[in-house]
Amino acid sequence: MQPVRAGKQTPLRPVPDSIARPIWADGTSVERWDESNVKSADVIKKMRHAGREAADTLASLGTVIAPGVTTEEVDAFCHSESIRRDAYPSPLMYPGGSNPFPKSLCTSVNEVICHGIPDDRPLQDGDILNCDVTLYIDGVHGDTNATFYVGQVDPVSQRLVEVTRECTARGIAAAVPGAQINAIGRAIQDHAEDNGYGVIRDFVGHGIGEQFHTDLQVCHYFHPQLTDIIEVGMTFTVEPMISVGSWKAKMWSDGWTATTSDRSRTAQFEHTILITEDGPEILTTPSDPAGHPYWDLAGLGV
Ligand code: MF3
Ligand code: CO
Ligand code: CO
Repeated sequence: MQPVRAGKQTPLRPVPDSIARPIWADGTSVERWDESNVKSADVIKKMRHAGREAADTLASLGTVIAPGVTTEEVDAFCHSESIRRDAYPSPLMYPGGSNPFPKSLCTSVNEVICHGIPDDRPLQDGDILNCDVTLYIDGVHGDTNATFYVGQVDPVSQRLVEVTRECTARGIAAAVPGAQINAIGRAIQDHAEDNGYGVIRDFVGHGIGEQFHTDLQVCHYFHPQLTDIIEVGMTFTVEPMISVGSWKAKMWSDGWTATTSDRSRTAQFEHTILITEDGPEILTTPSDPAGHPYWDLAGLGV
């Protein structure tokens, strides 16, 4: 299959004034502020809502993903679904890269690890496509992604996607109160390497809440120095990127799109989770998980 290349982008899509916007929406740069890792009851309540809406939006993308559809069209659908839910699509104008992120969704095809920018590339039969949705509602973010099959996908890629889903589930299951945060990466790396796969290191999970990304880092490989203790009330993402080949990343000149250095395929799944006394609670479960086998982590140890 041909390597993925940068395509043409369409102009910025407006978000109606009636929708509350994060500070970056108007091109303002973001300074991170100190945000407690442990959230208030009020923030948690809002995050349950934002998480659910993000998950339902992600699930709905499955209805448009097909061979011949461009990633731009998937983005347009995500944009209108976000607005319909009174949400601002958090990636839109988010600072970073060579320019702010110009779209409402990240679309990462085949060897693209993450942060792919939707463009005029038509999806091809046999592609794997990660869609990463983040919604901002009531002052908080919900962040979730999944890797979709486009048409008929080869068995090697199917196994990659399936093992990545298992890695995500195992990482989440390791997020129990009292454990060190590095337990998550250990669980993920063990499972990935048992299957002969590599764990991408350049991108990590993160604390999330009133900010899209807080300074709390969640590595997906074992990083012994990450000894923060997982506490009840914390909210963060688990979002491993797993490669059939090299775990090394190369960046496009757009400053966003990252591919594997050897162009091997990668997959990713992401959930926003809340730590409760009973263990992790997934905030980004869709309303009807049974209808979406990709998101149903039942039977995978969570
Ligand atoms: N949703 C991504 C994450 O999981 C971040 C995307 S930032 C963007 O952290 F600007 F590329 F959208
Ligand atoms: Co994230
Ligand atoms: Co994300």
